[in-house]
Amino acid sequence: MSESTNARNLPVVDLRSDTVTKPTPEMRRAMAEAEVGDDVYGEDPTVNRLEQRAAETFGREAGLYVPSGSMGNAVAMRVHTRPGQEIICEEKAHLYGFEMAAMSALAGCLARPLRTPDGILRWSLVKEAIRPRQGFRAPTGLIACENTHNMAGGQVLPPELAEEICDGGHDAGIPVHLDGARIFNAAVALGKTVRELTWKFDSVMFCLSKGLGAPVGSLLVGNREWIAQARMHRKILGGGMRQAGVLAAAGLVALEKSPSRLHVDHENARLLADGLTGLPGIGLDASQVRTNIVIFDVSRTGMTAGKLCEQLAAQRILAHAVNLSTVRMVTHCDVDRQGCLRAVEVMDGALRRTVVAV
Ligand SMILES: Cc1ncc(COP(=O)(O)O)c(C=O)c1O
Repeated sequence: MSESTNARNLPVVDLRSDTVTKPTPEMRRAMAEAEVGDDVYGEDPTVNRLEQRAAETFGREAGLYVPSGSMGNAVAMRVHTRPGQEIICEEKAHLYGFEMAAMSALAGCLARPLRTPDGILRWSLVKEAIRPRQGFRAPTGLIACENTHNMAGGQVLPPELAEEICDGGHDAGIPVHLDGARIFNAAVALGKTVRELTWKFDSVMFCLSKGLGAPVGSLLVGNREWIAQARMHRKILGGGMRQAGVLAAAGLVALEKSPSRLHVDHENARLLADGLTGLPGIGLDASQVRTNIVIFDVSRTGMTAGKLCEQLAAQRILAHAVNLSTVRMVTHCDVDRQGCLRAVEVMDGALRRTVVAV
């Protein structure tokens, strides 16, 4: 029997992203029983509860439920900037490279992307990129950080560096936004609270639908006045969701229950990385894997990332080809240790077959 015939009996191990998780039975029960109202009138009690819990968790005055992380970032960029300004961010930042150019399409701004070796922005780099006030330069309207940094392999932004950027930005009169889609992963990796990691940022976006496992939704948190403006921009973008309590109910469960299990995803990612390191042609430093994202180079395997992912998919292991030579695997609540071990085994087989065939 061929390997792929054998694999047909095994469950799919979906490591493409932590966005693929299915709601837990507890989330589904909460969704079925959710009290709802019209959220555009501010009358959905479950959405209101979620926004309040999010604000409390981050030590802020207010929160705003948005359908997606991308919309949260777009709203933040629109509130903080005016068209014609620049936004400073890291070169591989999600809000620059992976949100359909929303920065220009929805906020009318130009990116000022900064290249770093490790995805970590530093004030020394940011301060050089702030535009001087001259009549022919687009003013810097916003500095955006990302923690954890998705395309830098779930890299954690050290709190002292984040605070330095916030202080420097504020001294220069520039607001600082945090794309904290996976800020709870950063908090677990650092043994700190999300409040401690984010208190100096002007606004924070975080996702319920990534590592926290909810089916839908993200939140913005900030001060009352800023969130009131954000609410207007959410409506402009079509994000007023009416009886959204059925979704927010799952988000509440995710916010209360999921952070305490994220360390398991981090252990599994490390297990995966340790197994992949040393396989023929794989470029990966497992010691850099601190959260739930494993990114590795496959340029010396004799296969493109796409081809390799196809081979893995035939054995029911799903991974994401980031570009021609890079693959990403992400652990989450719907994959376990066993699944990660199987991913390593299947990868080993795929690479050995190619090496023999070359
Ligand atoms: C760091 C980061 N920010 C924002 C987003 C956007 O979130 P969404 O897919 O909910 O729009 C993602 C999605 O993967 C992300 O990784």
